[in-house]
Amino acid sequence: MSSSINDSVIFTSSAFEELSKYLNAHYRDHKKVVLIDENVNEIWGEKFLVDVQPLYEAEVIVIPAGEETKDIEICKEIWDTLLSYQIPRNTVMINIGGGVTTDLGGFIASTYKRGIDFINVPTSLMAQVDASHGGKTGIDFAGLKNVIGTFELPKTVIVDPQFLQTLPEEEVLSGFAEMLKHGLIRDKHLWLSLIESKGKLEKIYPLVEKCARVKHEIVAQDIKESGLRKVLNLGHTIGHGIESSYLATSKAITHGTGVAWGILFESKLALNKGLVTAEIFQEIKTGLESIYPLPALNDLDIPLILNFLQNDKKNDNNAIKLVLLKDFGDLEMDVEASTEEIIDAIKTSY
Ligand SMILES: NC(=O)c1ccc[n+]([C@@H]2O[C@H](COP(=O)([O-])OP(=O)(O)OC[C@H]3O[C@@H](n4cnc5c(N)ncnc54)[C@H](O)[C@@H]3O)[C@@H](O)[C@H]2O)c1
Repeated sequence: MSSSINDSVIFTSSAFEELSKYLNAHYRDHKKVVLIDENVNEIWGEKFLVDVQPLYEAEVIVIPAGEETKDIEICKEIWDTLLSYQIPRNTVMINIGGGVTTDLGGFIASTYKRGIDFINVPTSLMAQVDASHGGKTGIDFAGLKNVIGTFELPKTVIVDPQFLQTLPEEEVLSGFAEMLKHGLIRDKHLWLSLIESKGKLEKIYPLVEKCARVKHEIVAQDIKESGLRKVLNLGHTIGHGIESSYLATSKAITHGTGVAWGILFESKLALNKGLVTAEIFQEIKTGLESIYPLPALNDLDIPLILNFLQNDKKNDNNAIKLVLLKDFGDLEMDVEASTEEIIDAIKTSY
């Protein structure tokens, strides 16, 4: 585990050139392993292997796309492959893909032979603004998301919006919800720029860097989430509950949709608790609903959502604790809420 923030982030429109430069500068004589998901490999894989000269001799491991890949059996297969290739400790691993690849790749790299260096090249919006930064690596286990993992920082993250051109629209909107969260955490100006962009790709390019920096700055002050980093959980407590409840009934929604609805319901909770004004709540509601229309109230399985909330790994001593908004750029951490208050916030958000 790195004791201090020693990663860096490179924002660029020429990822291939930057990756070549970085590898030549820091890992010229080191073995390289590329971990890439099958979809990203299909579209971008060859370009990496042709345009990035230091990767000519790299071992390439292609993994299945999707959340199911963050699984211990896949880890075993990858560890086996690394051993069969006799990958030494002074290897650098390059994780190319969405949050699944950067979470899994970071976990593999941080555990193989007690840790090898890794670099993230995020290709989804979710990974560019959020998942690939900050050093949380991990896999899902026993039906629980991200429950096994490490804190280990990538040596660098290379963010290039050109990859987003091939990202399916629903994945763009999923990552965009995390950008909105970053907007609320930072200030009203960023929030308004994001809402005005409506998540349209051509308008969000300049905002990707701004939002990724919000995460970087917060994580730099609190790598292990003992305090400030908790603000990044805004919208995620109720959001995760909703996402898990949909998954359990096999009508999946994207992570971002869950987060967007979670932000809305948590903002209503903040209003009910007297933390935000009605004007701010209404502004957030109007903005969110213009991009992520709420489902019919009957479609939400509230008892199941509460069940997941009570099992949330962020809760201590059985109390449901949330991060709630007081104003744009001003949040209150560890606010306790009863199940009745949460039910009321959901029902009265309509
Ligand atoms: N570690 C963290 O701090 C953190 C933060 C947020 C989310 N996460 C994790 O991130 C994961 C979600 O990330 P995600 O939304 O990127 O999911 P993902 O990695 O599954 O990517 C979404 C889909 O987009 C495809 N894709 C990615 N880049 C593409 C491109 N440029 N062109 C075409 N297709 C592309 C992928 O193949 C996949 O099908 C979850 O597992 C979540 O737990 C981690």
